[in-house]
Amino acid sequence: DDWHERGAAVGLRQELDASGRPVLRSVKKGFRDFQFGRTLGEGSYSTVMAATDRETGKEFAIKVLDKRHIIKEKKVKYVNVEKDTLNRLTEHPGVVRLYYTFQDERSLYFVLDLASNGELLGVLKRLTTFDYECTRFYGAEILDTIDFMHTQGVIHRDLKPENVLLDEHMHVKITDFGTAKLLSPSKSNQHPDGISEAAELLDGSDKNKANSFVGTAEYVSPELLRDKTACKASDLWAFGCIIYQLFAGRPPFKAGNEYLTFQKILSLEYGFPTGFPEVAKDLVERLLVLEPSSRLSIEHIKNHQFFESVTWGRELWKQRPPKLQ
Ligand code: ADE
Repeated sequence: DDWHERGAAVGLRQELDASGRPVLRSVKKGFRDFQFGRTLGEGSYSTVMAATDRETGKEFAIKVLDKRHIIKEKKVKYVNVEKDTLNRLTEHPGVVRLYYTFQDERSLYFVLDLASNGELLGVLKRLTTFDYECTRFYGAEILDTIDFMHTQGVIHRDLKPENVLLDEHMHVKITDFGTAKLLSPSKSNQHPDGISEAAELLDGSDKNKANSFVGTAEYVSPELLRDKTACKASDLWAFGCIIYQLFAGRPPFKAGNEYLTFQKILSLEYGFPTGFPEVAKDLVERLLVLEPSSRLSIEHIKNHQFFESVTWGRELWKQRPPKLQ
């Protein structure tokens, strides 16, 4: 187990500082190595706080999880899923990176990339809707990140504008992998789309799991509601909902309560507001398809006319994001 105790003097490593001088840095970090600052967000099991590494001055977001609460609510598995998933997904600019984990008697700590511009949802609410250029750019960064996650054998299962964060340069950082599904390495690349993986979260053997998952009713895929299974294509359903929301200012399926929202999803009951661009409409209609295997694949989405002019891959992350207006 690579959790380690607070402040443990585990070892020192020689590194070169900015001017090339050798410095000693502790290899493992603990609570005392960080200056904690403002609260960035609060969930039911965790609080995310801004923190600064006292040694380097680098800023992070630290997710603090209350151990007693997690054990009491039987969420230990989700905490481990989140950690294992994040450890599998380093090396991509679109995923919040996990740098260190440590614990003390009371809490577990995840030291993550700080996304200083907060949630995409917050930005959208301020602007009400995005224009074509911004929707295309943010859509492209989200899709490039989903593509990476899927090739690494990870299904996110809870994609929504709250889980898409923005860094200091306004590039995307996807977060919240507590409900992700890790495919075994052999399954990671075999089935490109549409092949179902059992979603233990909704298997009925654990009511709490189901409840916790249904927290985000608006983006839940029909297959999860119908068959309690999620697959890679379930993330693409959520992606279709996000593209719709950026243009329309609201998600496609929304009703007075969760039950009514689910009914709308299952009967594909949604419409486009006037002024919704035709090419975007075509893309969304090919993603919001009840049968997961009939949704556009990631390759087809990338080649859709909506994303014409986008250069995929690392280029996307080097460019200056379009000005939001
Ligand atoms: N809120 C939740 N996670 C965050 C992060 N990594 N950066 C900024 N705000 C956050």
